[in-house]
Amino acid sequence: MRFAEHWSQASVIATRDLAPTIREITLKPDVPAGSWAPGSHISVAVLIDGQPERRSYSLIPCADGLLRIAVRIADDSRGGSRAMWALQPGNKLDISNPTSLFEIDWSRKHYCLIAGGIGVTPMLGIAAALARKNVDLSMHYAVKSHEDAALHDELAALLGEQLRLYPSAAGGRLDLLATFAALPENAIAVVCGPLRMLEAAKQAWADAGRPASDLCFETFGSSGRLPTREFRVRIGTTGQEILIPRDRSMLDVLNAAGFEVISDCQRGECGVCAIDVACVDGEIDHRDVFFSTEQKHHNGKICPCVSRANGTVTIDTLYRADQLPSAAA
Ligand code: FES
Repeated sequence: MRFAEHWSQASVIATRDLAPTIREITLKPDVPAGSWAPGSHISVAVLIDGQPERRSYSLIPCADGLLRIAVRIADDSRGGSRAMWALQPGNKLDISNPTSLFEIDWSRKHYCLIAGGIGVTPMLGIAAALARKNVDLSMHYAVKSHEDAALHDELAALLGEQLRLYPSAAGGRLDLLATFAALPENAIAVVCGPLRMLEAAKQAWADAGRPASDLCFETFGSSGRLPTREFRVRIGTTGQEILIPRDRSMLDVLNAAGFEVISDCQRGECGVCAIDVACVDGEIDHRDVFFSTEQKHHNGKICPCVSRANGTVTIDTLYRADQLPSAAA
């Protein structure tokens, strides 16, 4: 792992709705979490249909000793958000220590924050940290409607007129290319939102002639282009077919079936879990942010921790742990 992950228990202290589909959950960890970097997240262990799963949620600045997260109830939830929304004060759950995947250069003079929907949650901490540094800072926040704009009041209090809201239901449209083109030369952009927004931001950033290293991002949720539904994986060497239910990841199902697929981030960011694809009878819904657009188009590999498919994906070679040659042989 790129970071050490430690798990401990936490109690739910309070819940409240920040928006019709976004619920804030305040946790008190049994073991104090200590200080954490702006943009950090925790993983949470949830049981979905009796199966252990994990979900990641960004931390929102909170009073000392407590951890605040927000969970969007997803239309095509695979069960994680439903389980989180069922939590009540007094419930216990297992959480990991806070870690951050954002690699932000905090030494610049100009920053542009871009948030889409629930992707706003890490931004409050990042905006607060930057505001304390007295740098040039603007934030663009795309939402469906005003009432969906979770944390808007806290961000407005922090950023004033430097916060722009784009409610699509009211005709708001964030022009990423124009926004990036207008930034000073050494500006950094930090983006957090659904995969589609992230892909658009990467393209606009490149089109604006900006260096890729000055775009920091984290994808939020594992939403893809296609609806979440069950699909099949065929093991090319044996012809064995495995059904991936809509509420479980391909990674989890393959590992539960005895195959040893290594993984790290389990968020589609590191590429450690990537598996070779032999052919696709249907369509792969690449939900990772690791592969380039060209690589995704080529369909040569899939990140099973987040990506899904319609139809059947035949993967090249995958060995079960009990089929691996012994080291002593
Ligand atoms: S484990 Fe990191 S991309 Fe799958």
